[in-house]
This record gives sequence, C-alpha cells and structure tokens, in this order.
Amino acid sequence: MDGKKVILSGIQPSGILTIGNYLGAIRNWGAMQDEYDCLFMLADLHTLTVKQDPACLRANTYELTALYLACGLDPVKSVLFLQSHVSAHTELTWILNTVSYPGELSRMTQFKDKSLKHADNINMGLMDYPVLMAADILLYQADVVPIGADQKQHLELTRDLAIRFNNRYSETFKVPEAYIGKVGAKIYSLQEPDKKMSKSDENVNAFISMDDDTDTIMRKFKRAVTDSGSEIRRAEDKPGITNLINIYSLFANKTPEETEKEFDGVSYAEFKMRTGEAVAAVIEPIRAEKNRLLKDKGYIDQLLAQGAEKAEYLANKTLRKVYKKVGLLPRVRI
Ligand code: TRP
Repeated sequence: MDGKKVILSGIQPSGILTIGNYLGAIRNWGAMQDEYDCLFMLADLHTLTVKQDPACLRANTYELTALYLACGLDPVKSVLFLQSHVSAHTELTWILNTVSYPGELSRMTQFKDKSLKHADNINMGLMDYPVLMAADILLYQADVVPIGADQKQHLELTRDLAIRFNNRYSETFKVPEAYIGKVGAKIYSLQEPDKKMSKSDENVNAFISMDDDTDTIMRKFKRAVTDSGSEIRRAEDKPGITNLINIYSLFANKTPEETEKEFDGVSYAEFKMRTGEAVAAVIEPIRAEKNRLLKDKGYIDQLLAQGAEKAEYLANKTLRKVYKKVGLLPRVRI
C-alpha cells in the first residue's frame, strides 16, 4: 500500500441489503476508493455464529460480492476478499483470545441480545465474535473503520485489545478509529416511519431491498404510510412524509429544501410515485449489473482469489510480527 490511510470495512453475507445500507455505506465508496487504501471484507466466518444453511451462505456470499461490484467497488483500486480465504484472521484471533477476558466479552450488548434471540445456540463463536472482528481490523493496521452504531462497542474492544497487546509486547498494532455514518443514512420504515428501515422487518412493504425490481419498488412506495395534511414538507408530526422527502432527496441528489420546493402543491400520491421512480432509477441498473455478474461465478471466484492474495500478503506481515513478539519461533523455510 502506498502511504494513504487504510480503511477496512466488513459486512456479513447474510441476506438482503436495504436502500438504507446503500445510502449509509456502499454509495460513498466511489469517492473513498481514491482517497484511501480500502479493504472490503465479507465476514463469512462471522455469519457462522448463528445457524446458517450452507447453500444459502454460499449463495449470499456470491450475491453480496456481485452487489459490491455492481455498486462500483473497483477490485483494482481496492482489495475485495473473503475473511475465510485469509487464514491469518483466525490465527490472530487465537493470539488475541489470550489477551481477552470472558468478563468483557460476555458484557457485550450484541452478545447479550443474540444470546436471547438464539437461546438454543449460544456458542463460543458468538462470544468470541468481537475478537475475530478485532483481528480483522488489526491485521491490516487500519486507520479508520466505517461501522454502524451497533458495532461501536466492538470497535472500542478492538482498541482496548490493541492497546493491551501493545503495552504487554511493545508497539505492534495501530489503534483504529471508528467512522459512524452521517445522519443522511437515517432511513425509516415505509410502514412505521418512527422505526428504522430494517431488512428483518416481517412486513416486506416496510423496506426497499437492493434486490427489488421496479414494479416492487413502485408498489411499496404507493403503499408507504403518509401523514395527515397534504403538504410535502418536513415536520416532526409528519414522520412519513419527512422520511420520503429524505429518501427522494438522497436518490435524486437534492437537498430536502429543494425537494420541498419542487413538490410544492403536488399531491401525496404523485410525490410517492415520483419517489419510487427516483429510487428505481438508481437501484434497477445496479440490480441488472449484479445479476449479469452472477451468471459468471468463475469470474467472481477469480476476483476473490486476487483479493485474497493481496489481503493475505498484508495480513501475514502483521501476523508474523505478532508471532515473533509473543515468543513463537519463526518457521524456517526448507
Ligand atoms: N460485525 C460487523 C457487522 O455485523 C461486520 C464485521 C466483521 C466488521 N468484521 C469487521 C465490520 C471488521 C468492520 C470491521 O456489522
């Protein structure tokens, strides 16, 4: 890498992404890739901490890789790879386990939440999840880690582990900073606009998936909940319309003020239709490109192999340093 700051971003290949994920993260990559050395990792090992159907996991991994590429991730500028392809991730996890305490891991909010949600499968991986995540980050000496607010605690732990290791064995890891996306990413449910848009909502009309076709998008916006009154204007007592104004603005590249002006005097029904059109105009070409890429799994395999090779080179540099510092003998090549 060439002296630019390093960004590592990780996402689990576990099902659909919504336009909230797109606006909050994926959309900003284009610019990011020039300014930073970016590593985009699919955290496939993390998904195994809850039950996965193996065939679904394979399909989801291809889907998400293709979606990333379709959204403009450039595999020449950035490193795109699978966590499971670079064994240094699990190897560093072991070392970091020796400086992690069960107390701090069992106190993690996500561990507690998931233990309740998956009470029949509280496994060691679920508890060790943040240590694997710390390994993901520390291996690449990442400066910045873009995360959702729900991962903040895990990043704090990563920093703690880095500092703890550095104090015990001398300076080894860069202590990373979190980057938590801006408010522009706050997209609410189309059905209950006081709730965040979520891919796990039982009501499929509540969210727009990156895999929805134009008809589906139009239908969902038509059914979107609005508020009393008839003006297209943001207001605290108009969460439905406010959400739609934000969505339209983000997809049409306008400010909310411009959107309000543009739709002055227009009916809710018309505005909902225009919002659907603006969203579909962005999503449809991405979906088409993703589906085109998915037809050639061999090509995706090749890209992931190239990504793994680049990632592995960087990761092994750190791992070797770590092994040496803790006193493991270097393996001599014969
Ligand atoms: N735990 C993250 C999530 O579910 C995904 C992840 C795994 C990650 N490893 C990472 C994110 C490293 C950032 C850096 O959102």
